[in-house]
Amino acid sequence: MIIGIIGSGAMGSGIAQVVATAGHTVRLLDQNAQALERARQAIETSLNKLVEKGKLTTEAAAGTIARVHLTQDMQEFMDCELVLEAIVEDLAVKQHLFRELEMVVPETCILASNTSSLSIASIASACQHPERFIGIHFFNPAPVMQLVEVIPAVQTRAGLAEEVRALVESWGKLPVLAKDTPGFIVNRVARPFYGEAIRLLEEGVADAATIDWAMTELGGFRMGPFQLMDFIGHDVNYRVTESVFTAFFFDPRYKPSFTQKRLFEAGYYGRKSGRGFYSYAPDAAPPEP
Ligand code: NAI
Repeated sequence: MIIGIIGSGAMGSGIAQVVATAGHTVRLLDQNAQALERARQAIETSLNKLVEKGKLTTEAAAGTIARVHLTQDMQEFMDCELVLEAIVEDLAVKQHLFRELEMVVPETCILASNTSSLSIASIASACQHPERFIGIHFFNPAPVMQLVEVIPAVQTRAGLAEEVRALVESWGKLPVLAKDTPGFIVNRVARPFYGEAIRLLEEGVADAATIDWAMTELGGFRMGPFQLMDFIGHDVNYRVTESVFTAFFFDPRYKPSFTQKRLFEAGYYGRKSGRGFYSYAPDAAPPEP
């Protein structure tokens, strides 16, 4: 299968690695040439680690890399059978992208979004053929995290969710079907997790490191809420919080915090920018979840 991925950031590059490892030809597009180069390096580094650990042969890693074709030209998507978008979390930008994409891809091509918080129906509504639109929501880092949410919109044709579910399974992932509601399953449960942790911090109940320690050492979580927010990125996470809050008609349970908003406004995005709730050395590697 030929799969197009748009956006080669944290998620797009990881998803490209997953589907290329499963044997698909991948066209990975980004508007930013440096982001494409970073994605190539990230995929190579990740595959080399698997080779070092004996989980992948050198030939299989080389084959996977050879299946990922980097591009800045959407015309190269004319033979794609599935296109998955992982660009900025902005409805208008995503809608504009799919309008352009539909002019290029075949009518049989499945269109998908990796959105964390926007409604699949609202992105699909920009399409001439919304019946082929679906949400395929990976978790970060995509090559490591097993769960993938599959979210049909009200417009999605009958049967597509099952087809996509089987496809995701063939990539070695564990798909779960979710209704098109704000945050789907995991991000909805996660909002109060982050929100309550920030409230604890704001109320001076404990500092970030203590809360993280308690949640990992005592609570059994792989990462504490502050480590996880810094890992996801406050640019992404703040937008998701805002979007879920708005989508639930301003239900106070999902209210964003000024602490997080200020980090976002200051450009303190977390690991990716070197500073978030914690400070990071410029070459700090992302934690192994
Ligand atoms: P990112 O900021 O790491 O990467 C986004 C990439 O998209 C950038 O390289 C940017 O140059 C590119 N881009 C932006 N607009 C574009 C356009 N119009 N055409 C082509 N390329 C464009 O973002 P990240 O974290 O990979 O998130 C991407 C999407 O995945 C968002 O919708 C986000 O909500 C979702 N998501 C993020 C997760 C996370 O933990 N970071 C987890 C699951 C979903």
